[in-house]
Amino acid sequence: MRTLPIFTIGALAPLVTSASDCTREFLQDSADSLVAAQTAGDPSLLQPVSDALDYNENYATATFESGILSKPLEIDFSRHYLDTTQCATFTELISATGSKPYVIGVQMYFTDNSVSKIDTLITTTGDWLFNATGTLYWASQEDWGTIPEEERDSREVIQAAADAYCDIFSDKSVQVPWGYPCARLEGGAYTGNGGPDDRCDVGIPSGVNLTNRRYVIDETIGAVSVFLSFNAIPDSHAFRVEKGKLRFVHTMTVMTASRNGRSTTRRRLRGVMAPSAQ
Ligand SMILES: *[C@@H]1O[C@H](CO)[C@@H](O)[C@H](O)[C@H]1NC(C)=O
Ligand SMILES: *[C@@H]1O[C@H](CO)[C@@H](O)[C@H](O)[C@H]1NC(C)=O
Repeated sequence: MRTLPIFTIGALAPLVTSASDCTREFLQDSADSLVAAQTAGDPSLLQPVSDALDYNENYATATFESGILSKPLEIDFSRHYLDTTQCATFTELISATGSKPYVIGVQMYFTDNSVSKIDTLITTTGDWLFNATGTLYWASQEDWGTIPEEERDSREVIQAAADAYCDIFSDKSVQVPWGYPCARLEGGAYTGNGGPDDRCDVGIPSGVNLTNRRYVIDETIGAVSVFLSFNAIPDSHAFRVEKGKLRFVHTMTVMTASRNGRSTTRRRLRGVMAPSAQ
């Protein structure tokens, strides 16, 4: 009787691991390397990156080597959402204490264990309600900690809560699973004060289509990142969902993406947005 030569096992191993390598540890390491790259202003520190990287800033094709990662930033706060089902990550970066303030959202998508697509939204002074000091202050007070396994919502429930919130901008009949308390952090403005009476169901504009939604979901912290077009404006909505209900909403709206479109964009937003927090 013949036995399999031992090298067969070695030869097969890479095929087996490539399908199952998208672990939280793998995603965490890569997302951490993104923060290191941004801190150093050195895109090459982001690992592992595919040769065929599709790189975008504010929904426009951009050059990875000379993009935002080539600018060293003081990162005061970061949070990752790790999505092992899709093999994707979302990272929220707040730079409030450097020479120029930024709040940045990055979705990374992996293929064959390397980053194959990056979508970065960059907000700074001049963007909607932008205040990095405010963002840092509120974001670092909120509890986005790990949810005990038996209390976790499914991906479907988490995404449905986000979708309901996004849908109500164009359809007031949508039932949104509001949590109480719930707080919205928009640009740098907060709809609450961190207390038990904070509400999210206040001052929602109408007549706005939130389209082209791309989700990154992390059930362990009840979080979903949604990159979308807010009436054609590049926008990030991120949600923390607890027991099926909205607890926190963070938004970034890029007004400065296109200089030519800027004044039109601003007018368009003024018409529909009535921020309730100042
Ligand atoms: C930004 O937010 C901080 C902290 O909430 C606040 O003290 C400050 O007044 C805000 N700045 C502006 C320009 O609104
Ligand atoms: C939103 O979408 C609806 C249906 O597709 C369309 O009729 C409407 O004009 C859109 N509104 C805006 C502000 O783009």
